[in-house]
Order: sequence, then structure tokens, then C-alpha cells
Amino acid sequence: NRSANASGNPRDFVAKMKEGKKRLVIFYGSQTGTAEEYAIRIAKEAKSKFGLTSLVCDPEEYDFDNLDQVPDDSAVFFVMATYGEGEPTDNAVTLMENLRDSSFEFSNGAHRLDGLKYVIFGLGNRTYEHFNAIARIVDKELADMGARRIGDRGEGDDDRSMEEDYLEWKDKMWDAFAREMGVEEGQGGDTPDFAVHELDSHPPEKVYLGELSARALTKTKGIHDAKNPYPAPIKAARELFAAGADRNCVHLELDVDGSGITYQHGDHVGVWPSNPDLEVVRLLCALGLYHKKDTIINIDSLDPALAKVPFPVPTTYATVLRHYIDISALVGRQMLGALSKFAPSPAAGELLRAYNQDKELYARVVAGGCLKLGEVLQLAAGDDLHARPTPENTTAWPVPFDIIVSSVPRLQPRYYSISSSPKLFPNQIHVTAVVLKYESAQSEKVAQRWVYGVGSNFLLNLKFAANGEDAPLVSEPAEGEPAVVSKPKYAIEGPRNSYKEGSVYKVPIHVRRSTFRLPTNPKTPVIMVGPGTGVAPFRGFIQERVALARRTIEKNGPGALADWGRITLFYGCRKSTEDFLYKDEWPKYAEELQGKFVMHTAFSREPPYKPDGSKIYVQDLIWEDRANIADAILNGKGYVYVCGDAKNMSKAVEDTIARILGEAKGGSAEVEGAAELKLLKERSRLMLDVWS
Ligand code: 2AM
Repeated sequence: NRSANASGNPRDFVAKMKEGKKRLVIFYGSQTGTAEEYAIRIAKEAKSKFGLTSLVCDPEEYDFDNLDQVPDDSAVFFVMATYGEGEPTDNAVTLMENLRDSSFEFSNGAHRLDGLKYVIFGLGNRTYEHFNAIARIVDKELADMGARRIGDRGEGDDDRSMEEDYLEWKDKMWDAFAREMGVEEGQGGDTPDFAVHELDSHPPEKVYLGELSARALTKTKGIHDAKNPYPAPIKAARELFAAGADRNCVHLELDVDGSGITYQHGDHVGVWPSNPDLEVVRLLCALGLYHKKDTIINIDSLDPALAKVPFPVPTTYATVLRHYIDISALVGRQMLGALSKFAPSPAAGELLRAYNQDKELYARVVAGGCLKLGEVLQLAAGDDLHARPTPENTTAWPVPFDIIVSSVPRLQPRYYSISSSPKLFPNQIHVTAVVLKYESAQSEKVAQRWVYGVGSNFLLNLKFAANGEDAPLVSEPAEGEPAVVSKPKYAIEGPRNSYKEGSVYKVPIHVRRSTFRLPTNPKTPVIMVGPGTGVAPFRGFIQERVALARRTIEKNGPGALADWGRITLFYGCRKSTEDFLYKDEWPKYAEELQGKFVMHTAFSREPPYKPDGSKIYVQDLIWEDRANIADAILNGKGYVYVCGDAKNMSKAVEDTIARILGEAKGGSAEVEGAAELKLLKERSRLMLDVWS
């Protein structure tokens, strides 16, 4: 019996499973950590749904010769990313070799895995030809060896919809899993993943007060990425909308000189926001932690293989709520069930349970009111959530902090399309962010009020601070003024110069690469569609071309752009006098590009309107310009880029282009047009950078 011999062998995962009484083993093929995160999520779900614990494994650390010895009541999960031209991640190379090599023998002396139960989820990118190749190969090899898959093979598309693909796949998979494994849902407990301890004393310089990495705390040099964001000084910040507009759009110029950060036009910048004061104070009060807010705490993972502490520790209660977890989001229905056990009164517990169990009630009161965690606790306890929260007027819920840390997701960076080109601004990253603010629905419990997006309001506050503006927008509610109508204020000065140094404010950022790039040959015609802040990356694109034009003219003389392709930008906003982004810059770019850059503008809320009185949008201008567009795409091998709203605009633009191409091909939008569109996408000549 090899696994008995192998016990004590750290590379024997079957022995480890048995030792730890774990019925699941989850292998992840991960390069940047995404597949690993999904592996951990699967493990957590297995525990909370069925009470089953898992061994989450880096395949590099284990041998696979006893894959055939996984017990009958157990299952093996594979969460596999595909890289480049259909290659496995580095840590999965040996696993793949073992599975594919028919001379590789398992402990049964054959290349067979009869009856082995497995689950597979792949991570890939549909813009590559070999979409999810690795997951498909693993699936096929296992099936060929007699193993039995549970549920469908999941295939996530990193290009657009990884999260949705995962969510859609996993519910059906868990149903199949329950049937195959003979387990029932509801057997899991709400056991926390973490233990929180208060520390009496700790060297203050070792306490995290908002720093996002160990390097940030110790101020040691290192690569800046999502694991170690760079606090970028704000060089300039200004409002882009006209004075008097009822919305804000922030333009920020971030200084990355000396940081080692580089970027290209079309890349995204991740901005790490913090939560507004009001919500931090509200939740501190509702958890009875207001007077202990600066107490130093340490957090341990109860199962380090399953759940790493998601943010740096030791830290303080207030820091966790302000900088590390997402307390400003709509509170999830699932969480309310766990919290109801800690209600300060039977009635409060009853209400929270009702919100947890009654989907419609939850949708009406909690989701409709856009209630945050602190607000829902106040509401259930009968507090006046329209008043400014204080320890006196807020009921304290004795929820252990480890439940909060286990169930509230980490505060995530917000991604913006970079609106500059490194060729014109090598040491700067420009951000163009419209400030998100919308009205909640009126419900029987909570008055209608403004809801503020965390990331963009954080940037708006930074803009005010950077300019020394004492804007009314940053005011906290005055005594007696309802807190729900107040605009969010952020404590952005932060600790230890992370967010402010001297008079300079900083924003923690990292760069995320994209494939949204101009064709390398300037002769290729380019069509760009970017209404609203969708124009952001195209400002970078045009700057990129301006830089190239300057160099080309310098080298080859004033006529050097003669054979360049035309760049056509379709831009739309409400009014030419209100929200026309970078209005003064475009004519200058056009001049430098000597007529090779043409801009069409649709102002939806000023005349002219269509004959029937409806608004003119970018897609209407695209249709008007159809002769040029068909020529650029079909004859000029042109590139098309669309950026902005994913739900309505990009769909309407794609439909219009399909109509144009269908007509030009002498057919219909649905057949010939759709086929051309598909071809364009496959060849990466139609690219989208859209959000919803
Ligand atoms: P509207 O708000 O007046 O309807 C940037 O947001 C611009 O995009 C605005 O002019 C906005 O117009 C417009 N817009 C709204 N919905 C759109 C859609 N479905 N397609 C194209 N443009 C749209």
C-alpha cells in the first residue's frame, strides 16, 4: 500500500487528505493567483454548503502517482488556467505531463483512473485561439482514463465574464456534486475562517493603518502591482464638467516618476479607494466598537490552506473598516442570516432573518434602498438611520469581529481606462472618472436618498483636497441634518504619508495591462466610438498618434503624414456646453494630425433632435457616416474600438456596424453583417473596453 508507505511524505496528497479528514482535494493551475482564488472559493463553498473540508493544493508541491488512490467518497477538483498559446501555467507543467503521458503509471500499474470523481473549471481568454485548452485537455485525459466528471466542465472567460461564467457554472455543479457524493446542503455551519485577537501592545511602526502591503509599511523598494500598489502623488486635479452642471467628472494627473511603473495607451489603472467616514463611523457604532476603534488587533486564519487573511495585519478595527473591507456596498442577503444570531433584541433578529429568507422583502427594502451593512443593522434594531450615527443613538450588535472579517469581502480596486499616452506623458497616468451618484428607490422603511459610488467619490474628494478646495461636497452632515443626504467625506489624509506627504495628496494605484491597442501601422484606418467617459482611452490613443506624428514629421518632413489612415472618433455627451470632455484639446490634436483625425459629436440633450423628437446618439452618426465606415473596414482593413456603456450603447453600436457591413456586402445585418462582425472580432479588429 503505497499511500501508507508514503505517509510522512509531504508530496503525498492522498495521505494528507486522510490525515486531515478531507474528502475534497482542489488543484489549481495558477500564474497570477486568479485560479488559486477560485480554488479557495470552491473550498469555502463546499464547507459552508455541505460541511466538507478541502485540501487546496499547488500541483507543483505534490506527486500524482497515487491519483488513483483517492478514496471513493472523495472528489478531485481541477481549477486550471490556460496561458498564451494554450499552455499550462508553470505550476501545472508536471501535472499535465503526467496526465498526457500514456506511459505514466499510477500506483495500480496502469495509466487508468477508473471511477475517480472529478470536477473541472477552466480559466481562459476568448480573445485567444486556444480558449481554455488546458481545462479541455485535463477533462479529456481524465475521461479517457475512466474517471467520471461531476457536472459540466466550467469555462471562464477572463476577457469579459469570468465571474458570471463561474457563478453560472457552479450552482449546477454543486447540485450534481450533492447527488454524486450523497451529501445534502445545509450541513455546513457558519464557522468563521478567522480568529481576531486584541493586542495590548505592539510596536506602533508595525501596525498597518491603511498600507496595502508589507513593502508600503516598511517603505522598501519593490515592484508595484496589485499586491503592492503605489501611492502616486497627484500632480494636477480638475473638474471636467462646466460649473453649474449637476454632475462631476474628475480629471487626475498622477505622477509615477521613479516608481518603476510603466504603461501603454489603452491600459487600465486600478485605484484603491477607502470607505467614507460616515459608513466607517456607522459600522463602528453598530458593532459596539466605536470606543475601541484604535485598538490593535491581529487576525489568524483558522485554516491557512483555505483562507489567507485577506489584508495586512496587525491593524486596528477602524483601519479594517476604512481601508480593507467593502462596507459601502449593498449588503448581501446571505450575510444577514449569520448576523441575525447576534441581534441585540429578538425583534431585531426576527427582522434580519426576514430580510435573509424573504427574497422579495430583501429586494424591496434592502436592495431597493441600497442599504449598506451598517444601515441594515440600524434599521433592524429600530435606530434612526437618517440621523448622524453616534454610539449613543446606535444600537450595538455583539457580532464577533471574526464573522465580519470572514463574511464582508475585501475592498477591491476600481479600474479606470487610462486617458493619457505614455509617449506624451511618460511619467504620468491620467484618469477620467465621472462621479457616480444615483437615487435609491423609495421604500416603506427608508426615505429615498442619494447613493454614492465609492471609487469615484473618493477621487472627487481627493480632487478637492489636492486643490485646497473647501467644497461643500466634502462636508459631513451638520448636527440635526439627516446623514442620508450628506455627501460622502473621506479621511484621505491617512497615516504615515501613505495618502499625503507635505501638501501633496496620493492615490494608491497599480496598472493592469490590456489588449486595447492601436494597430502598429499608422496607415490603417481607425474608428473609435466613445461617448461619455468612454472617450478616456481614445484621448490616450490620439495622444499616442500625435507623438508618432511629431517624430515622423521631424524625420521625414512636413508631408510625412500624407499616407496615414484616418482616425474617426465618435463622441457623445449631453450638451456641448456642459459635459463635453476635453473640448479644448481635440482641435489641437486634429491640427497636429493634419486632417488625419476627424471627430463626430452627438449632443443628446440639445438641438438638433431627430424628426420624431428623439435624441441623436453616436450610433446615429455612425450610420450617417456609413459609406466611410464600410470603406475603412472592408477596403482599408480598418480597426474599430468601442468604449463605454456595455448594456445599451455598445450593443447599439455593434448592431449599427453590422447593418452597415451587411448593406455594403449586399446582404442583411443579421447574416452578412453579423458574419463580418464576428470575423472582425476574431481578428481583433473590433475591440471593446466596456463596463456596466
Ligand atoms: P442621454 O443621457 O442624454 O440619454 C454619454 O453618457 C452620452 O451617451 C449621453 O449623451 C447619453 O445620452 C448617451 N447615451 C445614453 N444612452 C445611450 C445609448 N443607448 N446609446 C448611445 N448613447 C447613449
